[in-house]
Amino acid sequence: MTGRFITLEGVEGVGKSTNLEHIKCRLAAAGIKLVVTREPGGTEMAEEIRALLLQPRDESVSEMAELLLMFAARAQHLHALIKPSLEAGTWVLCDRFTDATFAYQGGGRGVSFEWISTLEAMVQQSLRPDLTLLLDLPVEVGLERARQRSAFDRFEAEQQHFFEQVRKVYLHRAAQEPERFAIIDATPSIDRVQAQIDQVLFDKLGVPAV
Ligand code: TMP
Repeated sequence: MTGRFITLEGVEGVGKSTNLEHIKCRLAAAGIKLVVTREPGGTEMAEEIRALLLQPRDESVSEMAELLLMFAARAQHLHALIKPSLEAGTWVLCDRFTDATFAYQGGGRGVSFEWISTLEAMVQQSLRPDLTLLLDLPVEVGLERARQRSAFDRFEAEQQHFFEQVRKVYLHRAAQEPERFAIIDATPSIDRVQAQIDQVLFDKLGVPAV
């Protein structure tokens, strides 16, 4: 028996945390055994790599160092949590995954998409999410929300142009893989956003409405 692998993506401030909680409740109500996790992070060692990646620092960070740390964290996360869970029949709900690397390191930083694809194949082999929910919102609206929350991490400190590139790559990937992706319009009220999510969970994975 194999669990299903669901990922949640979007630019900062689109409402990932609130909607992650909603999805978690929906799956629990349907009696599905679930692990909720995040990237970068999700295991003790991968969370240490996350702290390295997010901490603002004076030293200029090499794009290659950032890319390899993302995949190092992911390799550990897959090894210690994601794969064993899926193999045990547990579903995995992950806040960000490799689409974020294409969007942030590829789109935002300008790292070669080919290199990212090579690392994806090395680290994941054929493993890909069964469903990726992309929460989409105009960048300026999301940034405004995100910046009211807390001090900036190393990514949140980037300029609007960076996030425009991130959003563009997310939308492009969603258009390229319509079977795996569902774009959720995060502009309307929370109820309407969650109604879209419920519909997608039913249509794509057969999760019944409560
Ligand atoms: P979070 O704020 O959603 O927890 O994510 C942490 C930051 O890490 C976020 O700004 C996006 C960034 N990130 C990447 O740049 N590449 C990746 O592969 C992942 C998973 C996250």
